[in-house]
Amino acid sequence: MEQTLTRAPESEELFSVVTLGHVDHGKSTVIGRLLSDAGALPEGRLEAIRENCRRNSKPFEYAFLLDALHNEQDQGITIDTARCFFRSEKRRYLIMDAPGHIEFLKNMVTGASRAEAALMVIDASRGVEENTRRHGYFLSMLGIRQAAVLVNKMDLAAWDEQVFLAIRREFSDFLQKVGITPTAFIPVSGREGDNIVAPSARMPWYTGPTVLEQMDAFVPLPTPSKLALRLPVQGVYKFTGQGDERRIIAGTVEAGSLRAGDEIVFYPSGKRTRVATLERFAAPVPESFTAGEAAGFTMTEQIFVRRGEVVCHPGEGAPQVGVRLQANVFWLGKQPLRPERAYILKCGTARAEARVESVLRVVNASSLDVTERTAVEKYEAAELTLRLERPMAFDTTDQGCDATRRFVLVDDYEISGGGIITRFLPARDYDERNIRWSASALTAGERQRLTGSPGLVVWMTGLSGSGKTTIAQEAERQLLSRGVRAYLLDGDKLRRGLCADLGFSDADRAENIRRAAHVAALFADAGLVVLCTFISPFAAGRAEARRIADGRFWEVYVKASLAVCRERDPKGLYAKALRGELLSFTGIDSPYEVPADPDQVLDTEHSSEMDCVQALVDAIQGRLEGAVS
Ligand code: ADX
Repeated sequence: MEQTLTRAPESEELFSVVTLGHVDHGKSTVIGRLLSDAGALPEGRLEAIRENCRRNSKPFEYAFLLDALHNEQDQGITIDTARCFFRSEKRRYLIMDAPGHIEFLKNMVTGASRAEAALMVIDASRGVEENTRRHGYFLSMLGIRQAAVLVNKMDLAAWDEQVFLAIRREFSDFLQKVGITPTAFIPVSGREGDNIVAPSARMPWYTGPTVLEQMDAFVPLPTPSKLALRLPVQGVYKFTGQGDERRIIAGTVEAGSLRAGDEIVFYPSGKRTRVATLERFAAPVPESFTAGEAAGFTMTEQIFVRRGEVVCHPGEGAPQVGVRLQANVFWLGKQPLRPERAYILKCGTARAEARVESVLRVVNASSLDVTERTAVEKYEAAELTLRLERPMAFDTTDQGCDATRRFVLVDDYEISGGGIITRFLPARDYDERNIRWSASALTAGERQRLTGSPGLVVWMTGLSGSGKTTIAQEAERQLLSRGVRAYLLDGDKLRRGLCADLGFSDADRAENIRRAAHVAALFADAGLVVLCTFISPFAAGRAEARRIADGRFWEVYVKASLAVCRERDPKGLYAKALRGELLSFTGIDSPYEVPADPDQVLDTEHSSEMDCVQALVDAIQGRLEGAVS
């Protein structure tokens, strides 16, 4: 077959195929024969190798072709040990070899990652072996759905249809179980060239496609440039000019395309801005950057962005953002993959500490036996759920972009596993026993379960000198000694710091209470019982505090008559106010609105301090139990 051997233009469609199979099953021979018969070899090369073999009294083998062409880059063909390019009449191919020995499976984690289809080679005289099954399972885990099985060495099996059919039956059954429906089973002889490029005259019983015909029939995956934009941020660089605050965001466009003026959103942060300019180092700036290109751009606003975020277009199919995911993982680590250990997960340019939350099933990649274990041993595959220490943006197998759905797991600085994200999981529904650190975006319910407390704002209102602080101090002590995490938030304390800018005008008191209520609500979020002791003289302010505390509010009126408070006057403030040295003093020249319907009244005038404390602590505990049950 005559073929032009000039290198195809870069723009021409490139279809990537991964080849799998044990070396002894003749994979190299099949590929060598394919290149040769498809006319993809440089002119005279085949003859030169034949001549070389003859001179060294070695029988010629097509498998030698790959070695002989190692690193050769002339005339449109590039071959190295793992990859070769060639073109059929229909399109350009990148053939990636996934070496058959188990030690090389690690290369497959990355090597097979971009494959659109697979060619699996089985030796007709040996049938389906452990490695073949492993490869089948591996394909399925990598989400490669198109595969043709080449039953090779049919010459050694006397071109026997029954041998072919038996292997087809056995391997189809197996592939079916792992979710792959092979596109074709082709009986071939790499050595003799049957059904590689030309149909075999020795196997007239086979009427399906040849290997090359089948390759041309594989359906390409959608072109990355047609998918939604995914640009994982590689780095952020500052312009160096004086007073120039702009930053260049750099990274490779993995899917979609980017133009100046585009509205963009960064995930997982969700920050939005617009592309100001496209930038490229030492080269003219193009009109747009498209999938596969290294891109740089500046933004209209100088927002803070970090490596690992993914630039997307709003409204164009957002990635998933979360801390939990389900994945298929193939494990290659020396140490088993286990839930107790922390790993580094790398996906796109993002990296995060990851822990196995639960192993859903461990599968022996060869026998496909499913085992109930929590650890994954070397060369085993597993379906598992992972929890990340911080949110990450990713895609799942249902979505297009490879770079954001595949990941590797690093254990002790070594890539120890590879995987593909199959599902996004909500942060909520986790197994508490497996939580080692809290993730962001906890819901109130989750936090409550984790802290073991719903939190409570105990709002104690009353005149100065009514006994709020005294009771609260003792209550705090008692609650803490009973294992209830309590904290006293006192008016005097707050006014020295957070509210140091406020006085005692009506407006300032309102603001004082607003701030106090927000602080108290946050503490309650954290699971604390917050004992708040503010005069809070106005009903409106207390109502606002109740609203801010959002259902976790216990209003306590600490009751004592003005006369008694004046008499107690622990800080000498009533005396000062009466002398006119202190203005707007509550009860003297500023009003106190008695609570109309408090949750509890502590009458410090008629009850002992200890009784009041007891009543308060009991009420709080009752209230907490009611909220938890
Ligand atoms: S509130 O009215 O805004 O709720 P808050 O409880 O924070 O008052 O502060 C009251 C404390 O501030 C009192 O215990 C007292 O020590 C001190 N204080 C100083 N000036 C005044 C005043 N004019 N009125 C009330 N309390 C005052």
